[in-house]
Amino acid sequence: MAKMGTSSREAAAIVVMLGFVLSLAVVCNGGKTSSFVRKEKSGVMPLDSDVFKVPPGYNAPQQVHITQGDQLGKAVIVSWVTVEEPGSNTVLYWSAYSKKQKSEGKVTTYKFYNYTSGYIHHTTIRNLKFNTKYYYVVGIGHTERQFWFITPPEVGPDVPYTFGLIGDLGQSFDSNKTLTHYELNPQKGQAVLFVGDLCYADTHPNHDNVWWDTWGRFTERSVAYQPWIWTVGNHEIDFAPELGETKPFKPYTHRYHVPYKASGSTAPFWYSIKRASAYIIVLSSYSAYGKYTPQYFWLEQELRKVNRSETPWLIVLMHAPWYNSYNFHYLEGETMRVMYEPWFVKYKVDVVFAGHVHAYERSERMSNVAYNIVNGICIPVKDQSAPVYITIGDGGNTEVLATNMTEPQPAYSAYREASFGHATFDIKNRTHAYYGWHRNQDGYAVTADSMWFFNRYYHPVDDSTSAQ
Ligand SMILES: *[C@@H]1O[C@H](CO)[C@@H](O)[C@H](O)[C@H]1NC(C)=O
Ligand SMILES: *[C@@H]1O[C@H](CO)[C@@H](O)[C@H](O)[C@H]1NC(C)=O
Ligand SMILES: *[C@@H]1O[C@H](CO)[C@@H](O)[C@H](O)[C@H]1NC(C)=O
Ligand SMILES: *[C@@H]1O[C@H](CO)[C@@H](O)[C@H](O)[C@H]1NC(C)=O
Ligand SMILES: *[C@@H]1O[C@H](CO)[C@@H](O)[C@H](O)[C@H]1NC(C)=O
Ligand SMILES: [Fe+2]
Repeated sequence: MAKMGTSSREAAAIVVMLGFVLSLAVVCNGGKTSSFVRKEKSGVMPLDSDVFKVPPGYNAPQQVHITQGDQLGKAVIVSWVTVEEPGSNTVLYWSAYSKKQKSEGKVTTYKFYNYTSGYIHHTTIRNLKFNTKYYYVVGIGHTERQFWFITPPEVGPDVPYTFGLIGDLGQSFDSNKTLTHYELNPQKGQAVLFVGDLCYADTHPNHDNVWWDTWGRFTERSVAYQPWIWTVGNHEIDFAPELGETKPFKPYTHRYHVPYKASGSTAPFWYSIKRASAYIIVLSSYSAYGKYTPQYFWLEQELRKVNRSETPWLIVLMHAPWYNSYNFHYLEGETMRVMYEPWFVKYKVDVVFAGHVHAYERSERMSNVAYNIVNGICIPVKDQSAPVYITIGDGGNTEVLATNMTEPQPAYSAYREASFGHATFDIKNRTHAYYGWHRNQDGYAVTADSMWFFNRYYHPVDDSTSAQ
């Protein structure tokens, strides 16, 4: 294994060098287009795969997953599914410093066309201590299963924290590789920022919701132990009038709860959390965002609330990218960009993570906010108050990899590559964060693309990676 890692690292280095030389020769303005050649797409894992196994025992909890349960990180939402009967909604939990405690939740079910869900439980545990390992048990009264998680440190400006970044995961063999690489990455992500498109059940006949269940079992090995922060993608909409299903996001909202009320949001599709030294704003590309809409009013207030003395790092998640130089989903994020980009520059957002395009891309810091219909000023310009835009929709999906890119590579695009992978955003203190993108073909420690982020509020010096 070590041998393979080394040779693929060398190969990657050569490819990056080649790509660099090529980009210099062919396109003077753009960044790097890596010509790394990956193996062919692998296909959806079959229903009898090891990762989809149902846990043994009567009414055993399955698809266990956790997410942050409040704004500060002192609460956790624990969710799971039972199949034979509803069973208990209780979560039993304890730490080395506290007695066993219980928290009660609720159970729900839903139907989608001719599919009926299992019993979906959601229980919020509150008043946890920061930076503490908790054990928890679900399935009380039938088959008990035990897991654990570690709460984040108390929110503060120099609190180090490592986020994982995964998008468009799906459930192909590539998806399993992405998750494995994330788990074995020595950077050790402590929570995942997930940028939408979870299970792709809607690509199966009648949106066969059995694939929501398999995805829940597949991802449990990570998300039962560390929170994944959810963003909605187009594959969560499940709007299917031909099946009589006209309530958007029905399976998603029944299965995945988020703490939206804690940030004054009125819908689970846009919300915010604070975690360590980061303020994370989650937006919905598939809910109304025009002027006078609930999401617009909320975001306008929300950006004012961010106190960089408390949380220096301002991170935004969304599904459809605003800056994307692939010929897939081209311009789909454009209308939201027109609405919100001036705010992102004004409030100096550090980084925007998106998915949707099944590939990887990182932008330079630039903005495109001067256009007013008649002045013709519509080319992105370098802007040190602007975020870096990263498309990380390369989780594995169940469709195809996006390989067709616009040529020449635009000047704002710093690095692009059609490979599956994940990234980590490793906050060191209020001024520095180390970002690395990991492609699945490399050894676990290899970063195929990386950058030191300088905080836009505390250290707003040029951190671009381009040669000029
Ligand atoms: C749902 O309907 C499809 C055909 O429309 C059928 O193949 C499938 O077996 C049905 N599933 C259930 C759970 O009844
Ligand atoms: C998924 O990955 C895990 C961990 O590497 C491995 O044990 C398992 O066999 C894989 N399953 C499939 C279906 O690829
Ligand atoms: C911002 O946070 C700092 C540090 O917690 C605090 O001292 C200050 O009062 C806050 N500012 C506002 C306007 O709330
Ligand atoms: C790439 O996309 C462009 C624009 O959509 C299209 O004209 C072209 O045929 C595509 N090329 C390939 C190889 O698919
Ligand atoms: C912040 O972290 C960076 C990178 O680890 C380090 O170089 C710098 O000295 C740190 N700043 C402070 C004030 O500790
Ligand atoms: Fe998508």
